Amino acid sequence: MGKNKIDAIGVLTPGGDAPGMNTAIRAVVRTAIFHNLRVYGIHKGWHGLITGQINPMDIKSVGGIINRGGTILHTHRCPEFRDPKLRAVAYKNLDEYGIDGVVVIGGDGSLAAANIVAKETDFHMVHIPASIDNDISCTDYTIGFDTAVNTALDAVDKIRDTAASHERVFVIEVMGRKHGILALEVGLVCGAEEIIIPEAKFNINKIADKINEGRERGKTSFIIVVAEGAISGAEFGKKLQKKLKRIKVRVSVLGHIQRGGSPTAISRELACKMGAKAVESIIAHRGSVMMAARSEYICAVPFKEVLKKKKRADLDHLRLAEMLSI
Ligand code: F6P
Repeated sequence: MGKNKIDAIGVLTPGGDAPGMNTAIRAVVRTAIFHNLRVYGIHKGWHGLITGQINPMDIKSVGGIINRGGTILHTHRCPEFRDPKLRAVAYKNLDEYGIDGVVVIGGDGSLAAANIVAKETDFHMVHIPASIDNDISCTDYTIGFDTAVNTALDAVDKIRDTAASHERVFVIEVMGRKHGILALEVGLVCGAEEIIIPEAKFNINKIADKINEGRERGKTSFIIVVAEGAISGAEFGKKLQKKLKRIKVRVSVLGHIQRGGSPTAISRELACKMGAKAVESIIAHRGSVMMAARSEYICAVPFKEVLKKKKRADLDHLRLAEMLSI
């Protein structure tokens, strides 16, 4: 399966960006050059592959980006990639540039699309999981997750200062699409009094009682981290304010700030290792595989295996956070 001789590879970053994508692009480009391959940057994700926005990359084109957030290749949500006719155009473009293998750096949507390409063609497809949501199975972490957790943590710590000064309750909405993995991690490490995630039910009366009891004990601030996939911060804030007569509730939506910024050391390390291993997996004809972080090792896991499983928030972490935030 797959093209026999590897002369050139392409790299793209479809879907939502994540801090560390640039570090991964750098690793892919430099590893490819080290192994005497030509390497092409495909701009704006799958959309750029369809429209032929493909440019050669060299050592210099990835200089000075190891620490930069976002993606120099830009990105684009591309529902039109579902159209087989447009995918045929994309495949023709890959052939025109003599590209034999493609490294796709992105989230679960990009993985699903890469799997379709792998099934329909003989291009070597490798996926590098990069998403602030950390919602991809078979890997402990995705590139960008640690950075987003730290960005959110920094914001919550600051909000805690003003919450304590005014003796208020703050509801803080965190991203994560339909998963609570990011919110749970942020809630645990910021010492949130409550964490609301789609994977667990909440009882607004019990939460209000806990806040009232805490206030009687002299607790000044309450932080409630809400995953956007569970309920909007605004809606939760309204429900809670109705139950709390004497305590003011404020809502803060962290939003896209969580997707930006310079990647942390952990996000960069993952990106360096996964980027290099992705290219070497193509050269070694490993098939359609995703790079996966397990303990401190990077493994190559077949697409089939990754797509079979669903990652879920670890409810033991929720219990731990509850126990520690009384
Ligand atoms: O998947 C990453 C993510 O940031 C999610 O956490 C969020 O729900 C979504 O992307 C937002 O997407 P967009 O920037 O397209 O609104």
